[in-house]
Amino acid sequence: MKRFPLIRKRRLRYTQSIRSLVSENVLTANDLIWPVFVLEGENRSEEIPSMPGVFRMSQDVLLIKLTQLFELGLKAVTLFPVVTDNKTEFAEESYNPDGLVQCTIRAIKAELPELLVISDVALDPYTIHGQDGLIDDEGYVLNDETIEVLCKQAISHAEAGVDIVAPSDMMDGRIIQIRMALEEYDFPLVSILAYSAKYASCFYGPFRDAVGSSGNLGKSSKEGYQMDPANGKEAIDEIALDIDEGADMVMVKPGMPYLDIISQASKQFNTPIFAYQVSGEYAMLQSAIDNGFLDEKKAILESLLCFKRAGCDAILTYYADRVLNYLNEK
Ligand code: PBG
Repeated sequence: MKRFPLIRKRRLRYTQSIRSLVSENVLTANDLIWPVFVLEGENRSEEIPSMPGVFRMSQDVLLIKLTQLFELGLKAVTLFPVVTDNKTEFAEESYNPDGLVQCTIRAIKAELPELLVISDVALDPYTIHGQDGLIDDEGYVLNDETIEVLCKQAISHAEAGVDIVAPSDMMDGRIIQIRMALEEYDFPLVSILAYSAKYASCFYGPFRDAVGSSGNLGKSSKEGYQMDPANGKEAIDEIALDIDEGADMVMVKPGMPYLDIISQASKQFNTPIFAYQVSGEYAMLQSAIDNGFLDEKKAILESLLCFKRAGCDAILTYYADRVLNYLNEK
């Protein structure tokens, strides 16, 4: 066995050149998906209090931003609507062909046809109670009834020109139903990015503030359908089911506290794996950055590179805009 002093691991860390030569992972523009909050109206941009540095934007403002970021190499954006009116018990607004998301999809594809547009498929922005699905009298989220609405929602996004639908609702069996609906309505090339291992996480708090669903949700939780943070094997099971049902890509969410799941899934499956660095992770990093406790650029880049090391193919991150600027520096 070779031992010290024959082995000195630091030889490969001695200069930047040798470090670059042996580095195993790299973060590029191709790894980034930018989640955005879309507002009704025009010329609107509002900073989200619990996510300092992240803005809700009306479509016109968003298009200007996206055009700039596309120039810097952005490949994909994912849309979250801020719905203030039109919340109902049965979430009819979710499949309105002229709804906020549907209109925004059309506008982006008209202006930037090569930018991939991903849409969230779930009912929480549209229900009065803030749950991702329809509920019964006891407030229990109904699986099969919800899937019917999710399919209509997915089709309305496909009709608007979306590239990828992303069910984030965690109903059982929704991937195959959405896939069959897409086939039936003649959208065989619309991909499905399944939020497969989505945990019932407190790290979604700032997101719910951002889309204005936390008030509607009140004290209710999503633990009846999202995963228990204690469980790892179950996540692998969820991912396997979604792949089997026809998911083109699968997702683990939240990200940084769940890198073990990503790592295991990337070894086990050959389907692309994405992760979501969620709102609470952003809030955590950003408050440390804003307090001067962490170096902004280094903290952001390291947090994202670690997703690559864990085996991610792409990362949804609110930092995508800043990172594209970093990657284009020099
Ligand atoms: C809802 C949805 C949530 C997020 C994305 N889609 C919140 C939830 O499940 O309550 C969270 C994203 C984030 O925290 O950044 N379908």
